[in-house]
Amino acid sequence: MTARLETTIGSLRLKNPVIAGPAEHLADPDNVRRALRTGVGAVVLKSTNESEAAREQLERAEYAVFDAQWRMAEWGPDAPFAATIATRSGMMRIPFEQWLEQAVALDREAKAHDAYAVPSIIVADLDRAVEMARLVDQAGLRALELNIGTPYATEARKGAVTTEFDPSRAHAMVAAVAGAVSLPVWVKLTGQSERVPDLVAASFEGGGSAVVMAGRLLGLIPDVETMQPALGTSLGIGGFWNLPLTCHWLALSRARLGPDKPLIGINGAQSGLDVARMMLAGAHAVEMASAVMLRGFNVLSDAVKALDRYLAGKALTAKDLIGRAADARRTFASLPALGENWKRYVPKH
Ligand SMILES: Cc1cc2nc3c(=O)[nH]c(=O)nc-3n(C[C@H](O)[C@H](O)[C@H](O)COP(=O)(O)O)c2cc1C
Repeated sequence: MTARLETTIGSLRLKNPVIAGPAEHLADPDNVRRALRTGVGAVVLKSTNESEAAREQLERAEYAVFDAQWRMAEWGPDAPFAATIATRSGMMRIPFEQWLEQAVALDREAKAHDAYAVPSIIVADLDRAVEMARLVDQAGLRALELNIGTPYATEARKGAVTTEFDPSRAHAMVAAVAGAVSLPVWVKLTGQSERVPDLVAASFEGGGSAVVMAGRLLGLIPDVETMQPALGTSLGIGGFWNLPLTCHWLALSRARLGPDKPLIGINGAQSGLDVARMMLAGAHAVEMASAVMLRGFNVLSDAVKALDRYLAGKALTAKDLIGRAADARRTFASLPALGENWKRYVPKH
């Protein structure tokens, strides 16, 4: 691939902005290797934490995909493009020491691909998260993703995971972890808030090097035959439809913090053009998770190639895209008056 794809996240140079985001398909080291072979700039490994409840949750995990009429579809590459992915997930079940050893080995392999393997910790108990982050740093890993915004805190057992909505608490958590390590900390935030830009600002003020935004929403999908909730409860939901929400939060965060704070888009990207869309909204790089888990690792290689083709066609580099659409956003009031335009959009008799 070409230099036009290069991007930076703070002090880290990525050969391209496509990042494999964490979910179950990145739990097995061989799958991480498959992700690295697709040519992505980085792979974020399936998260861990110290909570036994969060690990046990993985044994209760269930996954489903729905079409645009809320009918359950078959899991796999033939699922409709306009799919909603609904899940209850959990944490890696292996002991922390083994997880860390694996991460170190995978990052060494990633280096040979001119890429990064980034370990991810989901905060349960903050002191334990700080301790784990220190060990990750001491082990020589080159970046850490710190997730303080999983969708599940209200649904999982108490203390298993964190969904942080309060900017001052987010600041304190990030400061505790980032203050204890020298490696860059990418802070992953919830999207279930009207205060995403405040959470982003708090994360950078706390010492985060980048912000990954924003996590999935919770949703309930009633089944009209059984009259029960699909998979028994409220679920983490996502899909292509979340892309505009991610782009909106990216744009507002860029407007708030300026162009130099690295934002990483996540939630709703399925293709190279979706990566371009999130970059136009202000992302320096973009993670893709559930589309890969659903459809396979070629989603990543296709995305890298499609982005390269798009940039070649426009004679632009990836960096040229960052924030272009975000910076062109105008207020409603500054857009031209269109008279009775609205009348063209109501049903005709
Ligand atoms: C089954 C499943 C498991 C996930 N596990 C993790 C995880 O371990 N750590 C994490 O930070 N995010 C996890 N996520 C969230 C994804 O990384 C991502 O934020 C979310 O799915 C939205 O992005 P997407 O539209 O690219 O899937 C998981 C998502 C799914 C669907």
